[in-house]
Amino acid sequence: VSAVGRLLLVEDEAAQRQILTEILRKEGWDVVAAGSGEEALEALAGPAPELILCDWKMPGISGHEVLDEVRRRGLPCAFVVMTAYGSIAHAVEAIRRGADDYLGKPFERDALLLALRRALKTKRLERENTALRDAVAERDRFGELLGRSEAIQRLFRTLQKVADSEATVLITGESGTGKELVARSLHAESGRAAGPFVPVNCAAIPETLIESELFGHERGAFTGAVRKREGKFEEARGGTLFLDEIASMPLGVQASLLRVLQERRFTRLGGRGEIETDVRVVAASNRELARLVADGSFREDLYYRLNVVPLRIPPLRERPEDIPILTEALLARAERRHSRPAPELPPAVLRLIVEWSWPGNVRELSNLLERLVLLCEQGRLAPEDLPEEMRAPGAAERGGVSLPPGGLDWEQMEAGLLRQALERSAGNRTAAARLLGLGYKAFLYRLEKHGLG
Ligand SMILES: Nc1ncnc2c1ncn2[C@@H]1O[C@H](COP(=O)(O)OP(=O)(O)OP(=O)(O)O)[C@@H](O)[C@H]1O
Ligand SMILES: [Mg+2]
Repeated sequence: VSAVGRLLLVEDEAAQRQILTEILRKEGWDVVAAGSGEEALEALAGPAPELILCDWKMPGISGHEVLDEVRRRGLPCAFVVMTAYGSIAHAVEAIRRGADDYLGKPFERDALLLALRRALKTKRLERENTALRDAVAERDRFGELLGRSEAIQRLFRTLQKVADSEATVLITGESGTGKELVARSLHAESGRAAGPFVPVNCAAIPETLIESELFGHERGAFTGAVRKREGKFEEARGGTLFLDEIASMPLGVQASLLRVLQERRFTRLGGRGEIETDVRVVAASNRELARLVADGSFREDLYYRLNVVPLRIPPLRERPEDIPILTEALLARAERRHSRPAPELPPAVLRLIVEWSWPGNVRELSNLLERLVLLCEQGRLAPEDLPEEMRAPGAAERGGVSLPPGGLDWEQMEAGLLRQALERSAGNRTAAARLLGLGYKAFLYRLEKHGLG
């Protein structure tokens, strides 16, 4: 953390104030020194500092009053308190009132710099978290699923309704649309959340093994069954069994599965006793099962049994409204995963992202953003960082603005764009300003101008 910001130092002892000012200036801080709480409040009327280093016990307005005022006004600055040696009670009180850190006097230069760095870091994280929370309002998420398009909002409402039921759910959607995440979120929001979530990829298991994988087997049930083994139905007891790529399930196994779903009981391969099932089954497919039923490769009766609650996730290209918040959240995820700061995303680049057709859906978007976080060196993305096909003339031109032959009404266009940006960001002004590539002040100014404030 390099010190290049404005720092307000509040210390009533002149000699101390002098020394601290010197140290901090050497570190690159733009120091404003105040000799009392009164002076500090006066200084706060000016531009807000990034950090306040404040003595706790002062005659007149004391440190805690300065702190209260800073927090009351919601100033986003980090606040570090200096307390007399041994007065741990003051330090505790300071933290409780919202200080970010404290220093017991006397302190060494290094201890001071460390405390300041820590406080700045805490504040920065706090700001990032608020930004993230701001960007993703409560109604735009269900568990880990994000989306604000009409289609996804409808999906959320259905999920909400069925989460707590025992109904079998069939999720369909193209590859990468989030089928597994829907299944996991459904589980997490259900009464079975404390139980296990057990995924089985039916396409990845050899036909001959699926049955024993699902229902388990007794020792010696078949060649190679050297010991007894529990199947996924037992493993998922009390939880959710996720049958992924159900279309790949061989017809023979489909018959066994149907029986289990109907009787809620099964037998291990080679076993005799029946075992009660206690699982909620959620299945997923990236192919239309109805079509497979028509051509005879999927059992009709099983199809109806699974399809009690059908959930269809539309491809990403049909819901571009979801792309900005997904982009933001997935960038933040990549940032955490790789401990690398995500590059800034200028509107021109976001526009190319929103306009792309995303044949690989959310997974493709997630992979691209992860790559960008790892490879971008400038700290700011440029269109050139995107794959060539996304920058193809057609792609870029569609979002470009060209002056209509008959000219246009500038003010009306501006007001229209402001409204759209506010709408798309659900009233979040910071996000709306970003969509238009405007600084926050410039954005507010224009809102006022059009009476949209
Ligand atoms: N609505 C969403 N909100 C947040 N993340 C999402 C959303 N949809 C998908 N993702 C993310 O996209 C990636 C792909 O999702 P998932 O694996 O669930 O897709 P899938 O439909 O199961 O794909 P496939 O058919 O290829 O198995 C995951 O990283 C997931 O976290
Ligand atoms: Mg999947």
